[in-house]
Amino acid sequence: MGIREELESIGQGLREELRTVQDTQSLEQLKVRLLGKKGSLTALLRGMGQLAPEERPKMGQIINERREIMQKMLDEKMRELSEREKQMRLEREALDITEPRDLPEVGAVHPTQAVLREVLDCFTGLGFEVVEGPEVELDKYNFELLNLPKNHPARDAQDTFYVDDNIVMRTHTSPVQARIMLSRKPPIRVVCPGRVFRADEIDATHSPVFHQIEGLVIDENVTMGDLKGTLDAFAKRLYGADITTRFRPSFFPFTEPSAEVDLTCFNCRGKGCRMCKGTGFIEVLGCGMVNPKVLEMCGIDPERYSGFAFGIGLERITLLRYGITDMRLLYEGDLRFLRQFR
Ligand code: DAH
Repeated sequence: MGIREELESIGQGLREELRTVQDTQSLEQLKVRLLGKKGSLTALLRGMGQLAPEERPKMGQIINERREIMQKMLDEKMRELSEREKQMRLEREALDITEPRDLPEVGAVHPTQAVLREVLDCFTGLGFEVVEGPEVELDKYNFELLNLPKNHPARDAQDTFYVDDNIVMRTHTSPVQARIMLSRKPPIRVVCPGRVFRADEIDATHSPVFHQIEGLVIDENVTMGDLKGTLDAFAKRLYGADITTRFRPSFFPFTEPSAEVDLTCFNCRGKGCRMCKGTGFIEVLGCGMVNPKVLEMCGIDPERYSGFAFGIGLERITLLRYGITDMRLLYEGDLRFLRQFR
């Protein structure tokens, strides 16, 4: 076959293939088969060496013209195919952003947190500042400076998680009192919420981890009347105007005198029910006038200053607030329980 015929047949072949080729990848291969290093047209150009010298320029020109034409046809097809592929991809990947879908479930404030927020809101409204302290605490702050010396029964190893001889998981939020007194000068008015730890059983009313809210006020002329007024305001704010406090004498090493405080039962409003065991009152906190010994150990002059302190059990007031009877519900994270607070 002469070069002209071969050119003709290559051109014919290309036209046919261009009619059937479906995608850019196959087109690319077609191009290589034609114009690549080992392509048929390239081979043809090489074959020119066999022609008589006077024929070469003419033939070369013809082949090059054809080559350009074929190149254009290939380019044209390439544009067409890539445009089509792009369209197909756009259709395939189309997103309907207007399509309705399931919304993520809305969470709720945990009941313990909700009550904590209310309590803190109440005390900040009375001029208290919120301060936090460490959960892993030195013996010194958790016990010693609170007038609980080394052999005191309240330090019993059965109640306290010891990290080592000098470090404990705090058993109450009272150590924050000591830290504050040592680092500030009166007047002091703080509330200190936080987690506390005790080697307790887990049951309906006990947990090894629970929360307290500590309160501390120190100034000149602070009296038990101030303590009572403050706690009364707290009780009414949280549970209503008909709620009152009842102080019962008690003992804590860091306060003198000390009291336990009951509030009117929120369930029966004082009439007597199962929740308050018929007494009309429920115990919610411990408090007292800061022991002068504690003031002195913490660098505050007991001749000039006096103060009161209190410690509220957060879980307890949360259970009472919502009429929940088992404390474990507050920790277990059961969605059937939690959803009720949305
Ligand atoms: N820290 C005590 C406890 O964990 C509670 C308490 C009682 C705190 C009297 C006080 C207080 O600040 O004055 O049982």
